[in-house]
This record gives sequence, structure tokens and C-alpha cells, in this order.
Amino acid sequence: MRDLTSETITPAVISTLRDTKDPRLAEILESLVRHLHDFVRDIELTEDEWAAGVDFLTRTGHTCSPTRQEFILLSDVLGVTMLVDALGNGRSAGATQNSVLGPYFRLDRPQYADDADISGGLPGTPLFFEGRVVDRDGAPVPGAAVDVWHSDADGHYDMEVPGREDPAMRALLRTDASGTFGFRSIRPAGYPIPGDGPVGDLMSATSRSLMRPAHVHVLIEATGFQRVTTMLFPSDDPYLDTDPVFGVKQSLLETYETHEADAGPCAGLAHEPYTLLRRTFVLEPLRAPARRTTPFSSSTEVSR
Ligand code: BEZ
Ligand code: FE
Repeated sequence: MRDLTSETITPAVISTLRDTKDPRLAEILESLVRHLHDFVRDIELTEDEWAAGVDFLTRTGHTCSPTRQEFILLSDVLGVTMLVDALGNGRSAGATQNSVLGPYFRLDRPQYADDADISGGLPGTPLFFEGRVVDRDGAPVPGAAVDVWHSDADGHYDMEVPGREDPAMRALLRTDASGTFGFRSIRPAGYPIPGDGPVGDLMSATSRSLMRPAHVHVLIEATGFQRVTTMLFPSDDPYLDTDPVFGVKQSLLETYETHEADAGPCAGLAHEPYTLLRRTFVLEPLRAPARRTTPFSSSTEVSR
């Protein structure tokens, strides 16, 4: 391996992978080298541009901390997170589709009984959520673990509200015998993804909006079914078509019904105008075990 050229360097690097023990790792690395070299050749990357890229990735790493994952955010804004999900979690027609998990899921969320107020006393338009979990035949799925979390009326999650330590606007719930669950909270607002790091620099360099449409996150796990990591967006939200993390799907748009005080389905429960969100989630049975496993674990483990 001497006197390598801009063409022969690619097979030379790939040949060094021949003793890789894990065949999937070998496959991933070979493809990575091939695509990376093709990219460098195609774009005729200069030394200054290469150094800028290295600096960008270095800053991305330095921005990571136990509470911030800038690389996942980078994956989100480049569409890789949703692409990996689309490849691994294709759902049949009618089954609830996934969206991004995002950085605001917390394991230390409280468990609540049905219809509890999970708002933590934060101000906002009352939100009533009536959920149902069923299988593909419409039969209820009792005992499903349902995580919900969302932002406040200013678009902040609990950990971003100054002075707030305790979890709020999040809960771990369970479906009852009829597959239903419910809670009361406050209506969430849209918010910008973190823009003060290298991903924010990338977004402003490309004149992209940081704003996510409003949403309520829902993560459902039930024995014998595929996990659903999803969110519900108001169908009239102004940011649906510019979501910076590509998480919007038509099937995840929902009517956030607005009702007057003491009127409508929750009359007696709300003495001020309120929002009602109703949704049935359809779970898919677990698939047969995957043909091969990857050495890289990119999914977030959700222990519950
Ligand atoms: C979220 O919806 O919580 C989120 C998802 C991806 C990036 C930032 C936030
Ligand atoms: Fe979110």
C-alpha cells in the first residue's frame, strides 16, 4: 500500500477491514469509507473545508453533556433520526407511526392514576387528553405503559422553567381494562430546538427555522407489541411544514378541540375555555427477531 492515488486509496482502506470479526461492523465500515471517500471526491473538499468540518464536529462533541446531546440533535436536523426510524419501524396502514423521541424525555417522571392533573400547577389553557390503545383489530390493550410529556404555554419543558426542579407536564400512565388512559394538563406551545450550539450555527447558516410545531409526546410500551414513540400535533399549527427535525406525519395531526368554559364534553371540569385532545393509538405486534444485529446501539433505552 504505497503511492496511493485519490482513487486507489479507497480500496486500500477497505482492505484493512478484512479481519474485522463482526460481519455487520465490517459491512457498515466498508460502506462508510466508500461513501465518505466518494463525498470528498465529488465535492472536491479543500483542506480548509475539511478543517472546518473537523472543527464543527469537535464543537458538537464539546457541546454534549450529561443533559445535552448535540450529536443526536445534529442527526435530527439532518433527517438521519427519522430515516433510521423509517427503515426500522415501518408500520402497516392504520398503525400509529413514530416520530422523534427528542431530548426532553425523563426517567424520573411521576406515575399517575387515570385523569390526574399532571401540569404541576403551571399556568395555561387547560388540556384534557383522552387516549385509547388498541391492537390492529381494534381490541383494547390493557396494562400498556404510556409516557406523556410536553412543553408549557411558553414552549418550555419542565427542566427549562426557571426555578422548577420537580418534573411537571409529564407522567407515566397505564391503560385500564378498556385500553383507555387520560390526564389533565395545560396546552403546549411550539418552541425552538436548542440554537446556541454548533447545530444552531448550522441552522442559521442555512437560514432554517428552529421552531417545532406544538405537540404532546406519547411513548407506549405493551407486552407483545412494538414500542410506539410518537407525538400529536395540532392540525392547524403554523410550523408543521418547516419542522427542523422532520418529525411531522399527516397521521399524527390531530384536532385540538377548543371549548368554552363549562361547555362541551368536559363541562363541569373546566370553568374556563379549554382544549380537548382525543386519540386512539394502534399498536403493531412484535416482529420476528431481526436477521442481524448491529454493534452500534443508537436507540435510547427506556427503562420503566
Ligand atoms: C422534541 O420534540 O422534544 C425535540 C425533538 C428533537 C429535537 C429537539 C426537541
Ligand atoms: Fe418536544
